[in-house]
Amino acid sequence: MPRPVRTHIDEALCAGCGLCIRVCPDDTLSLVNGKAKVTGSESLQCGQCAAVCPEGAIRVESLDPTYPALSSLKPAEKPCDAPGLVQLMLTRRSCRHYLAKPVDLPVLKDLVTIGSSAPSGTNSQAWSFTILADRTQVLQLGQAVGNFFKRLNRLADSRLLRVATRLIGKSELSSYHEEYQPRVEQSLRQFEDQGMDRLFHGAPSAILISTRPGASCPTEDASLAAGQIILAAQAMGLGSCLVGFVVEAMRNDKRIGHMLGLDTKEKVRSVIALGHPAIRYQRPAGRFAPPLRILKGEPHDKD
Ligand SMILES: Cc1cc2nc3c(=O)[nH]c(=O)nc-3n(C[C@H](O)[C@H](O)[C@H](O)COP(=O)(O)O)c2cc1C
Ligand code: SF4
Repeated sequence: MPRPVRTHIDEALCAGCGLCIRVCPDDTLSLVNGKAKVTGSESLQCGQCAAVCPEGAIRVESLDPTYPALSSLKPAEKPCDAPGLVQLMLTRRSCRHYLAKPVDLPVLKDLVTIGSSAPSGTNSQAWSFTILADRTQVLQLGQAVGNFFKRLNRLADSRLLRVATRLIGKSELSSYHEEYQPRVEQSLRQFEDQGMDRLFHGAPSAILISTRPGASCPTEDASLAAGQIILAAQAMGLGSCLVGFVVEAMRNDKRIGHMLGLDTKEKVRSVIALGHPAIRYQRPAGRFAPPLRILKGEPHDKD
C-alpha cells in the first residue's frame, strides 16, 4: 500500500553511489546532481534505502528508532551481532536485484525440503512445491501474469463495470483501479519497452507453494513454509522475494497453473523469487513500532 514519503537524506553524507535508488521498490528516490534526493510522492516506508546506504545518510522517520534492540540478549549479542537464526531474521531483505547466475537445482530442492519441515495444521502437509529452475521458466510465468494484468486493466478501465461491481458489493475492481492499476501499467510498459522485470526482479529461479484439498489451515501452512524457505535462502547466501502479484494472477486465472502442470484443485499461496543477490545491505531495515499489548496482573476494569 503506498504511503507518504518519510525519507530524509543527509546531503552532506551522501556519496552519490545510487544504491538507495536501486533498492527502492517505489521509485521514491533519484540521483540529482550526484546526490540522492526524494523525487517521488509515495513510499512503502520499507527502509531498504537506509539499510543499504554505505554512508548511513538515510533515515526513514516513521520507523521505530529503537528497532532492532533486543532486550533479552546479552550486549555482545545485540542486535545484529546476535548469532544464527536471530541474525538471519534481522538481516533478511526482500531482494530485488539478482545476478544472472542460476541457482543449482539441488539447492532449490533442499529449500523445498526445508519448507516442508514447517509445521502444518493437523500435520496435514497438504502442500505442493513447484520449482522454476531457470530464468526461461520464470520469464514464461511472468509473461502469463502480465497477460492476466493486461486483461484486468481493460476491465478496470470501464467506469461502468467498476460502478456495477461496487453496487453488487464487490469493490475489488474499484480498489485495484485506485490503488494498483497505474503502477501495474507502468511496470508492464517498462517490461515491454526496456525489458525491466519488476515482477520477479530478474530472479533466475522461483519456488511456488500451493495447497491441496485436505489442509485444515492452508494459508498458515503455506506462509510458514515460505517463511522457512526465505530464511534458509538467506542462510545459503541467496536472495529471495515474495511475489504477491503472481499469487493474485494465479488465483484468478487457472490457466496459468495449468501451464505449470498444477492440479486444478491446487491453490497457489506463495510465490518466492530466488537467486544470488546483486546487492548487500549494511544494516537491518527498520520497522514501524508494532501495536503491542502487554497483559499482566489484575484486569484493567478493576482499577
Ligand atoms: C505476502 C507478500 C507479498 C509480497 N509481494 C511482493 C511483490 O509482489 N513484489 C515485491 O517487490 N515485493 C513483495 N513483497 C515484499 C514486501 O514488499 C517486503 O517484505 C516489505 O517491503 C518489507 O521489506 P523486507 O522484506 O526487505 O523486510 C511481498 C511480501 C509479502 C509478505
Ligand atoms: S545509498 Fe547513501 S550514499 Fe548512496 S546515493 Fe543513496 S544516500 Fe547517497
